[in-house]
Amino acid sequence: MSNPTLLILAGDGIGPEVMGQVTRIIDWFGEKRDLAFDVEHDLVGGAAYDKHGTPLHDDTMAKALEADAVLLGAVGGPKYDALDFSVKPERGLLRLRKEMDLFSNLRPAQCFDALADFSSLKKELIAGLDIMIVRELTSGVYFGEPRGIFEEGNERVGINTQRYTESEIDRVARSAFELARRRGNKVCSMEKANVMESGILWREVVQRVHDADYPDVELSHMYADNGAMQLVRAPKQFDVILTDNLFGDILSDCAAMLTGSLGMLPSASLGAPNADGRPKALYEPVHGSAPDITGQGKANPIACILSFAMALRYSFDQGEEATRLEKAVEKVLADGARTADLMGEEGGTPISTTEMGDVILAALDASL
Ligand code: IPM
Ligand code: MG
Repeated sequence: MSNPTLLILAGDGIGPEVMGQVTRIIDWFGEKRDLAFDVEHDLVGGAAYDKHGTPLHDDTMAKALEADAVLLGAVGGPKYDALDFSVKPERGLLRLRKEMDLFSNLRPAQCFDALADFSSLKKELIAGLDIMIVRELTSGVYFGEPRGIFEEGNERVGINTQRYTESEIDRVARSAFELARRRGNKVCSMEKANVMESGILWREVVQRVHDADYPDVELSHMYADNGAMQLVRAPKQFDVILTDNLFGDILSDCAAMLTGSLGMLPSASLGAPNADGRPKALYEPVHGSAPDITGQGKANPIACILSFAMALRYSFDQGEEATRLEKAVEKVLADGARTADLMGEEGGTPISTTEMGDVILAALDASL
């Protein structure tokens, strides 16, 4: 049998640096766990624009559709700020999401015990925190038409459209309920049904899917602004949060920071299953390209490494190996390994991106 295939799109800024550590870990699984992947590298974002004049070449798009999973680093940077909207680095990522139909974006916010002091919230509020945001990723205001900047009388008007069909809400709701059953069995759905029709429909469809097929899961609804407030007031009340594309963008940054550093959080974006039962899938850290620290060896590779752990679990049915990798990360944090983003008030000397890779590989060796 041939090896499963991975397409690596390291992208811009710190993307290539953190992905460099992930490729070492992929190699480790090939050598030590008999889990070899066929890996191909390509360009996305500003890196692709520099070479091809587009943030995602058609050939790369085709490869992404073929691959068993895509691993992405980060896109964007100040160098590209002045580019036309249609070729901005972010458009490359949005095209991947749309054409791979990755409608369900899983963003876990988990607090590692060793890092509980790093949160801006009190330790007791976040110790042991384990929530999962399920963000709809292929529709809503990110893609709705009409959109654009138009002339209206003697001034211009900027328009975006929040648009959701029943089937779009239905399928992402199902993915949240399925996930909840494997966790704490609770879903809180967030929208703005008090001011938006799309929110009214969202609430109705989520409730309908629940009543028909997931009555065993505990479901609640919350307005998204209240949800933001509750996330910083008492985050442990949540298990799975189900929400739309734009609210999910905002709420997931908020939830991520509860855990102390954006450098820690992975994500998985999943589509409908292929013929072989595997969903189309893209894995990426929640953090961005961090131009301020690019090229300095300071970046924390953990979010990207944990994204590969999610790939092992959700694309390759290797839950035990995913746990092995997550435990290795937990171990090095407990032992005090800290990149610069994880330096607390007590100070100390941070380790580099590569050194973080070294200690995680050593912890993996020790797990055998
Ligand atoms: C995210 C990012 C993206 C988004 C950007 C880079 C287009 O903020 O993945 O959360 O807005 O979805
Ligand atoms: Mg975001």
